[in-house]
Amino acid sequence: MAELIDSIAVMARVSEQLRGNGRRISLVPTMGALHEGHRALIARAREHSDAVVTSVFVNPTQFGKGEDFERYPRNLAGDIQKAGDAGSDYVFAPSSAALYPQQYRTYVEVEHLTGLLEGKIRPGHFRGVTTIVTKLFHIVMPHVAVFGQKDAQQVAVIRRMTQDLDFAVELVVIPTVREADGLARSSRNVYLTPGQRAEAPVLYRALRRAEQRIREGSTDAGAVREEMRVMIGQSSTAVVEYLSAAHGETLEELSALVTGTPVLLSLAVRFGSTRLIDNIPVVIP
Ligand code: PAJ
Repeated sequence: MAELIDSIAVMARVSEQLRGNGRRISLVPTMGALHEGHRALIARAREHSDAVVTSVFVNPTQFGKGEDFERYPRNLAGDIQKAGDAGSDYVFAPSSAALYPQQYRTYVEVEHLTGLLEGKIRPGHFRGVTTIVTKLFHIVMPHVAVFGQKDAQQVAVIRRMTQDLDFAVELVVIPTVREADGLARSSRNVYLTPGQRAEAPVLYRALRRAEQRIREGSTDAGAVREEMRVMIGQSSTAVVEYLSAAHGETLEELSALVTGTPVLLSLAVRFGSTRLIDNIPVVIP
């Protein structure tokens, strides 16, 4: 069982003590409802450090109006158990009032990257992410922070921020953990009806098909996107928000696929009111 810390001051004091004793601290930031993906992050954090802190906080500033902040699944008791089982020493779960008191006025914003892909559809989302991650970095003072490739743009944005703001935090990124049928694990999968759940693996199949086309030597990014669109179009309930074949670092949409370029194949698709995202990174052979 991990030890629960709900106070910012206590968390900072524990971290200071750990650092004073020469311990290496890893942070795994999460919004809770922990699943196998989070478990893999915590297990990797365990390998990189002497003390693992898993933060559990459903961050209101990264949700837009009409998004699922209120209905986002919450289960702190279960998360403390799961985080401990996966190898976390502490669960840091502060209150919203403590992190964002009434007079709160400060935000961290990464430019440009945050206006593409997810950022285009969810304005303000990454500003909330970078703000909370900055706050967590300051409170927990980790040597290492572990993130999932599942949220590829989040990784790119946090990497940019960490470099631009000179955070002395090493970022570790782990591959996307999937269900047996390919669906990426997500706290939001619980919203899917059985029918939607049965159709959702089409997202990974479409990404894999696109990856295969690139590996076979396709040079036309537009055709690769179209192929994904056709495949997902076969699902009766899927509504596409975007399908992208972008440069892996700048996240700019590609037209020609040139040998050696890192590509991020990514998509956001709605099943009813549930929004799923997924991606595959691939280097053009
Ligand atoms: P959350 O969606 O809870 O995800 C926490 C971390 O787990 C993120 O780094 C995410 O990429 C990773 N993750 C989620 N599903 C995964 C999967 N199937 N395989 C591998 N990793 C996976 O991302 C957030 O929370 C928030 O934006 C946060 C960074 C905590 C800031 O509030």
